[in-house]
Amino acid sequence: MKTLSYRKALAFDDVLLRPLYSDIGTRSEVDLDSSLDDRWGLTLPIIASPMDTVTESSMATAMADIGAMAVIHRYLSIKEQSDQVAEVSEYFTNCNCAGTKPVAAAIGITGDYKVRARMLYEHGARVFCIDAAHGHHKGMKNAIEYIREEYGKDVHIMAGNVATPEAYMDLISWGADSVRVGIGGGSICTTRIKTGHGIPTLQSILECAPVAKTTGVKLIADGGIKSSGDIVKALAAGADFVMVGSLLAGTDKTPGDILEDATEGKYKSYRGMASYEAQKDFKGASRHIEGVASVVQYKGTTSQVVERLAAGIRSGLSYSGARDIKELYETSEMFVQSSSSTTESSAHILLRK
Ligand code: IMP
Repeated sequence: MKTLSYRKALAFDDVLLRPLYSDIGTRSEVDLDSSLDDRWGLTLPIIASPMDTVTESSMATAMADIGAMAVIHRYLSIKEQSDQVAEVSEYFTNCNCAGTKPVAAAIGITGDYKVRARMLYEHGARVFCIDAAHGHHKGMKNAIEYIREEYGKDVHIMAGNVATPEAYMDLISWGADSVRVGIGGGSICTTRIKTGHGIPTLQSILECAPVAKTTGVKLIADGGIKSSGDIVKALAAGADFVMVGSLLAGTDKTPGDILEDATEGKYKSYRGMASYEAQKDFKGASRHIEGVASVVQYKGTTSQVVERLAAGIRSGLSYSGARDIKELYETSEMFVQSSSSTTESSAHILLRK
């Protein structure tokens, strides 16, 4: 008979951080620097998702301008994706931005990924985001080993997604330089409904962080991050970066037109890459769907939205008395809140009927 082991898993809304003594005068004293590796340091720990409604070249340059990063999605022809990589690469070479910036693009683990990787590399990509829904997989092992063999340490391999420390360890042993953590938590994701599998993203971060900290392989928390508060919780739990889709969807530098109607006002499309709509556009059709297509309100400029997030994160660190992300991880105290506390934690004024 199968032995069942019941383990509780925590999501962002299940926890809060304990306010701690702080001697931080202003938010500007808080340093949000995070480095992907020796070559690339960002001044904000935020990465825009490789999704067709989030990151193409304009988003990549806009995010870099504000000290963050974005990964150009792979649902483009090889030529289109390499042209975008070339555009970003040229922008980084000619702009007055400080330091070297990573030109990042996603590839898959099947099909044309080897030819794609070659073209992306030749056009300037130096971060390959090997993008698979279930990254703890033989196909991921083959892809990481192939990329490492072919390009050596000249490229940074960002691999994922995974949800467990065993998977994190395996990806490192296969050659990953950073790992995306989170399965089934994305705002447009139906993986948990369709497959019964997944782990709340916060729980995965908590479990994978010790591996990340002992190996130095950076942890990118990905999926279900809804606010700057969730970003602070992710960093406190041990993430080095967060990858976000919905938080940036609907901003001006994301691909797609601004739509408008009388009831909705201005809005933009946001969809999962495994949604019927995205799969139909890129593959013709697919019988297996693990995402949904939606719309989000138009939010204004990408830079303003990211700056607001950054202000929230800085404020969050100061509530823990932490001057940087490392200190937040080391000193913050997280506790589980009751369901009535979760209600109290969101705006709960009684509205006039
Ligand atoms: P969000 O920030 O909660 O909107 O989640 C974005 C993340 O969801 C991405 O970075 C991907 O890891 C993941 N994702 C993107 N498309 C899909 C999908 O169709 N199904 C499941 N997960 C997805």
